[in-house]
Amino acid sequence: MSEAELPKRYGWNTPVTAPGPAGGKMLRSLHAILKDPLTYLEQVWQEHGDVVQFPIPKPATYLVSSPEGAREILVNQHNQTSKQTLQYNNLSLVTGEGLLTAETQAWRPRRRMLQPAFHQEMIALSEHHVSVGLEKLDQHWNELTQAGPAIVDIDHAMMSIALEITCGALFGVAIDDEVDEITSATLVALHGVVAKARNPLALPMIVPTPANLRMRRAISRLDKAVDAIIAARLSNILAPDAPIRDMLDVLLDPDLEVPLTKQQIRDEIVTFIVAGHETVASALTWAWQLLITNPGEMQKLQLAPESAKLVFDESLRLYPPAWIITRRTLSDMIIDGIEIPANSLVIISPWLVHRNPKAWEQPLEFQPERFIGGSPQLGYLPFGAGARLCIGKEMARLEGSMILAHIAKNWQITAVHNEPVPIDASVTLRPVGGMPVRISRLIK
Ligand code: HEM
Repeated sequence: MSEAELPKRYGWNTPVTAPGPAGGKMLRSLHAILKDPLTYLEQVWQEHGDVVQFPIPKPATYLVSSPEGAREILVNQHNQTSKQTLQYNNLSLVTGEGLLTAETQAWRPRRRMLQPAFHQEMIALSEHHVSVGLEKLDQHWNELTQAGPAIVDIDHAMMSIALEITCGALFGVAIDDEVDEITSATLVALHGVVAKARNPLALPMIVPTPANLRMRRAISRLDKAVDAIIAARLSNILAPDAPIRDMLDVLLDPDLEVPLTKQQIRDEIVTFIVAGHETVASALTWAWQLLITNPGEMQKLQLAPESAKLVFDESLRLYPPAWIITRRTLSDMIIDGIEIPANSLVIISPWLVHRNPKAWEQPLEFQPERFIGGSPQLGYLPFGAGARLCIGKEMARLEGSMILAHIAKNWQITAVHNEPVPIDASVTLRPVGGMPVRISRLIK
């Protein structure tokens, strides 16, 4: 349908202000949208441009894919937006009102309170936990490869090491025996979040459907992990005037102006478990996929492990784990010359912005060297942008580059098969069926 043929309103008085797919066409695409949302969004963007309006009466729904448009919403007009969207409302079923989902009023003091926990020493502490995690991974892989190359699911390995680092660096606990249970509870809970977002008829959590029961069990498992983390700290109480050591100390600090409630502490710990490990694991898993399919780049990394930062940044461009960021507009705004009314849902997909030729030359090519000299201000938002920028960005970049450098230097990683790995666009980008790779030791 051409722009001229678009209706003036989508019902409920929702004006049509931007080009986009017609209602019938979108309905016919429903299966494709649910099955492969990334490809659908890409098609809609290619067909209709950087600001697209979907034929949805309420809320008016826009896809914004230009570097400037994304920046305008996340940075310049941040105060005119809210996180009251389906995406974050559903996520809060698992995380509660933690830093990631909190609305501005509750969020601002909490961010101020937690930011100091991400100080330089904490980043250095993370480095220690990455080294411990890598030692363990080496040991495990050495055992597996004693008789020759072995096949491992590198996605599973990245989830495990990322969770151990998060729990070690933020909460000071080693969760050796529980890693598998907690990573799988996280995945099941997040799967439930996405399933709810995709099914407008999904029943509320209180109704004991099999899907809700699965999700409730996963959330209980995460709650159990929270209890264990707190109990471990309380049984090892610091001297009253000991310096604040990590994020858990900040959360449990009884001398805060307003100490956090039990529920608030729980919500932050779950938020950090969820936000802090699945994202990093997803980024690393796709980095391996990119390196395996670009052997020249793998070789460069093996010869110069210090270039791992570039590889990690470029992997985050092509496979941004947080592939979708949503906001509700609180006032009318003009984005790329198009009027977006108050109370609209705005979808920004880093997947698309990172492929926009307005920001990137040869956007589909894997070229880590493009990040020599740093990342651009515009058009690169794997960690979001503006006030709600990821609080764990530096920790994630340190973890990611250390893990890539170490494994590339010590292990040969090759493909098990040549089929492209299908992507499940869940809360983060996940490889369908994991990512089996062949490993063999390079240095004894
Ligand atoms: C490669 C890894 C990571 C990616 C791609 C990532 C991505 C993001 C993105 C896109 C946002 C902004 C969401 C929005 O604006 O709506 C965000 C926020 C957040 N991230 Fe990350 N993240 C990563 C690692 C981490 C780590 C390691 C932690 C914790 C240790 C963490 C904790 C958080 C929290 C708490 C927020 C909310 C911040 C706020 O609103 O003040 N993330 N992340």
